[in-house]
Amino acid sequence: MAYETILVETKGKVGLITLNRPQALNALNGQLIGEINQALDGFEKDAGIGCVVLTGSEKAFAAGADIKEMQSRTFPGTYLDDKFEDWDRIGRRRKPIVAAVAGFALGGGCELAMMCDFIIAADNAKFGQPEINLGVIPGAGGTQRLTKAVGKAKAMDLCLTGRMMGAEEAERSGLVARVVPLADLMTETLKAAEAIAAKSLPSVLMAKESVERAFEVTLQEGLRFERRVFSSLFATADQKEGMSAFAEKRKPDFKNA
Ligand code: HXC
Repeated sequence: MAYETILVETKGKVGLITLNRPQALNALNGQLIGEINQALDGFEKDAGIGCVVLTGSEKAFAAGADIKEMQSRTFPGTYLDDKFEDWDRIGRRRKPIVAAVAGFALGGGCELAMMCDFIIAADNAKFGQPEINLGVIPGAGGTQRLTKAVGKAKAMDLCLTGRMMGAEEAERSGLVARVVPLADLMTETLKAAEAIAAKSLPSVLMAKESVERAFEVTLQEGLRFERRVFSSLFATADQKEGMSAFAEKRKPDFKNA
């Protein structure tokens, strides 16, 4: 598959997607979002892949949706052509996606990072929803996912002022799982992704699905969902293997079965 706006590699059981429009700080145009989906389609189908990492450059994860591409858009055209379906598909993937964010993650860039399952940030990362400065608002989940991640006060602050938030503040606020020195970003993120990919894939997919449920349903419904999913994992050979390995003081050898 020939990609023009991303680089795609496989590192063991980890699929790595690197956004690659350096001349535009990885601004997210339609082609780039389409290519991310093609790469993710491939990784989802590939039984050898257990986790995906999405990253940008040291200067920019992504500085937003491509403003030059959006500039001449109209209403109802923007509403009718449903370009957002491509964005939404990124957030509906089953295998885990870890975002490794350095530099700017602004607007659609911040939204893309938030579509991933968790974010590991370099100490130079800057997050923000500056759409208000362009006379619009976040359009790919920013007002919703950011609010669920950091709460109303900070989400309002960021969406209304358009200011940027550094990595430390982002971690303190719950947007980011970990902050690491820029030089260690890829090593640390790939280490986390490899650890995930070494688990039993059915349990990984179900853990992801269950945590996602917490954002969708009431506590009691979420607990019932978790209980059913937990119980169902006792039907897998990997549960027998995982628990036997613990008892026998050895590493488990999961077969995704
Ligand atoms: C198109 C962009 C871009 C963007 C940067 N560039 N961001 N092009 N869309 N979102 C381009 C610049 O035009 C410039 O191209 C080159 O990248 C380098 O950018 P500079 O501005 O020269 O770099 P710098 O001075 O370092 O400033 C970095 C920056 C700034 C602070 C990140 O570029 C910036 O404010 N960018 C826009 C951020 C933003 O508003 N994002 C939200 C977009 S709306 P040339 O050709 O001049 O060298 C959005 C809505 C999402 O995301 C809704 C879902 C679809």
